[in-house]
Amino acid sequence: MFYSPVITNAAEAAGHKDLHLFKYIEDPQQHKIETYEAHGGYKAWKKVLKGMSADQVIEEVKKSGLRGRGGAGFPTGMKWGFVPKASTKPRYLCCNADESEPGTCKDRVLMERDPHGVIEGMAISAYAIDCHLMFIYIRGEFDHCRERMEQAMDEAYARGHLGKNINGSGYDLEMIVHTGGGAYICGEETALLNSIEGERGMSRMRPPFPAIEGLYACPTIVNNVESLASVPHIINRGGDWYASLGTEKSKGTKIFSLSGHVKRPGNYEVEMGFNLKKLIFDPEYGGGMLDDKKLKGVIPGGASTPFLTPDMIDVGLDYEALQTVGSMLGSGAIIVINEDACIVWVIKKLIHFFRHESCGKCTPCREGTGWLEKIINRIELGQGQPGDIEKIEDVCGNILGRTICPLGDAAVMPIQSAIKQWRDEWLYHIEHKKCMVKTNFEFK
Ligand SMILES: Cc1cc2nc3c(=O)[nH]c(=O)nc-3n(C[C@H](O)[C@H](O)[C@H](O)COP(=O)(O)O)c2cc1C
Ligand code: SF4
Repeated sequence: MFYSPVITNAAEAAGHKDLHLFKYIEDPQQHKIETYEAHGGYKAWKKVLKGMSADQVIEEVKKSGLRGRGGAGFPTGMKWGFVPKASTKPRYLCCNADESEPGTCKDRVLMERDPHGVIEGMAISAYAIDCHLMFIYIRGEFDHCRERMEQAMDEAYARGHLGKNINGSGYDLEMIVHTGGGAYICGEETALLNSIEGERGMSRMRPPFPAIEGLYACPTIVNNVESLASVPHIINRGGDWYASLGTEKSKGTKIFSLSGHVKRPGNYEVEMGFNLKKLIFDPEYGGGMLDDKKLKGVIPGGASTPFLTPDMIDVGLDYEALQTVGSMLGSGAIIVINEDACIVWVIKKLIHFFRHESCGKCTPCREGTGWLEKIINRIELGQGQPGDIEKIEDVCGNILGRTICPLGDAAVMPIQSAIKQWRDEWLYHIEHKKCMVKTNFEFK
C-alpha cells in the first residue's frame, strides 16, 4: 500500500485541545477500526443513532458554522436543510473525493490515514438528510485511497456501523465506493453526479440544484471529504465548541496544503484566520523559502485563485480576509513561488491544465481557454506580439461569469491577477522575446 510521505502538524495537533482532524493522523494504525474506536471513533455515530433526530443533527451543524471545504465555502447545515422533506424519492449523499485541483492534497491524507473518520462523517451526514445509500467518489488516480476506503468500509460493515438496523436503531445505511472518471471537471458536483450515473463528466445547468434534483433526479447532497470528516467532532463536542474556533464568520479549523518553493511543504491543520505569512515562514510550518530565495508570489486557495504578492501575505487564512486582499480561500491549497519563477511560464502551465480539463460544454470556456493557451504559449516561446496582453484580457473578460460552471472563472482569475501584479514582466517577454528572470526551473 502506497503511503504518502507528507509533512503534517500531527504532533502539534495531538497536544492541542482544539486541532482534531489531524490529532491521530501520524498513528500508523489509525486506519484500522480497532485503533479508530480506541481513539473515540464511531462515538458520535452511536450518539446520533441513540438519541438525535435528523433536525437536531442539522441544527448542531448549523450552529457550528461549518462551511464547505471543497472550495465554495457554502454553509454545510444550510445545504442539508435544502433537501425537500416532503419528497418521497430516495435521497443520496455523495462524498466528493475527486481532489484534482493543482496543489490540493488534503483529502487524500484523510482517506489514506483516517478513512473511518470520513465514513463516520458520511454516515452522520446521510442520517441528517434521511439518506440510506451514500457514495464516495474517489479521484481515479488515487487507487491507494480507494483500497483504504474499501478496507475501512468492510470493517465498518463487519462492526455493524453500516448495513441494516445499525446498532439496533432501525436505521439502514449502505455505502458505495466509486472511482472517478480521471478528469478535474468530475470534481464539480453536477459533473460528478453525471459520472456516477455512467454519463460523460460534464456539468449540468442549474437550477435544479442537486439538493432538489441530483443523482438519478433525486435529492442529493454533495460534500467535500474534509467537510464530512469535521462532522463527528461537531457532534461529539458540540456546535458551540466548533464555532468558538476560527474567526467571526469563518469557523473551525482547516487543512491547508502548502506546496511550491518552501522548505517544509505539507498539510497543516490550523484554525481559520491563521496568518498566511506565519504558515509559510514559521519553522514549525513551511519553514521559509526553499534555498532562502526571495518570495515572488503566492496562490492561496488552489490553482484557480488570484495571486498575492509578498506585501499582501500578512493576512488571515479565512474566507473574508482573503477576499479583502482580492483573492479567495478556495480549497486551501497554498502554492508558493520564488523570485526565479517566470510568471508567464507559471501561467502557461496553469492554462494548459484548465484548457485540457474544460469539459467543452460551453463556448466561452471551451474556445476561450484554447485561445488563451495559444497566446500565452507564444509569449513564453518569445513569439509574443504587441497587443497580446490586451487580447488575453479581452478573452478573460469574455469567459468570466459567462460559463455554466465555475471552471471558466477558475481558469481566468489567476491569469488576470498575474497580469495585474507582474505586467512589466509580460511586456518584457513580448518586447525582448525572452524572460527577465530565470526560466529553467521546475517546481521541486
Ligand atoms: C472544476 C471544479 C472542480 C471541483 N473539484 C472539487 C473536488 O475535487 N472536491 C470537492 O470537494 N469539491 C470540488 N469542487 C466543488 C464542488 O462542485 C462542490 O462545491 C463541493 O464538493 C461541495 O462540497 P462542500 O460544500 O463540502 O464544499 C469543484 C468545483 C469545480 C467547479
Ligand atoms: S465552464 Fe468549462 S468545464 Fe464548466 S461547463 Fe463550461 S465548458 Fe464545461
